[in-house]
Amino acid sequence: MIVAIDGPAGSGKSTISRLLAERLGGVYLDSGAMYRAVAWALAQNRLLEAQDTVLERVLPTLPLDFAVRDGRLHILWKGVPLGAEIRTPEMTRAASAVAQREPVRRFLLSRQRGVAHEGLVVAEGRDMGSVVFPDADVKIFLTATLEERARRRVAQYRDQGIDADFQEVLRSLQARDDADTNRSIAPLKPAQGAVLVDTSHLTIAEVVHVLMNVVEKAAKKQAGDGKSRAD
Ligand code: DC
Repeated sequence: MIVAIDGPAGSGKSTISRLLAERLGGVYLDSGAMYRAVAWALAQNRLLEAQDTVLERVLPTLPLDFAVRDGRLHILWKGVPLGAEIRTPEMTRAASAVAQREPVRRFLLSRQRGVAHEGLVVAEGRDMGSVVFPDADVKIFLTATLEERARRRVAQYRDQGIDADFQEVLRSLQARDDADTNRSIAPLKPAQGAVLVDTSHLTIAEVVHVLMNVVEKAAKKQAGDGKSRAD
């Protein structure tokens, strides 16, 4: 089963998807982390501005690995896990920029689909339901107001020991929303058939509860469809 969860930055996707994958005993696919890792890898090689032809040639040769172990996606650079270094404001901006590049999207598409061979997957990002897994069993689009998302992001940065200004975070979220929504390839938008959930006034537990209901309903429907085919 594939559960595709898309939405803008700060809508609660990562936390919710991780918890949902845990509850369902599935793999959590954080596709944003993959874009961040590619941005980081390109930055190491001063290739963030490289032309498409160069990216196409270089991307498969980078010592960057995506491996699923113990229900989790591990992103390794030269065999060592990448972590906080891909979560800085600088890498956040760089990831948004590289995510607009065709060779990067193509490179990651096959790797994201590769994870789907791992049983139940909760895939989270911007285009999981629309492009990467158009046949996903469940499609969800999480939203929240810009102000609420900025408030959450400031709290996240604070937890990482980064002192962030609310207005600045709000402006950067708005810029990223614009870039992610208006790009020509795989823009951020609700996939056809996606269930829209506004998380602005919901706790994390409440959102997980709502999504569990959606998943259970889909699983029951699938079981029913299978039974009626067998009958
Ligand atoms: O979810 P995130 O903030 O970690 O994502 C980082 C960037 O990657 C974000 O600006 C948009 C891009 N992204 C994307 O284009 N498609 C995805 N499926 C996931 C992320």
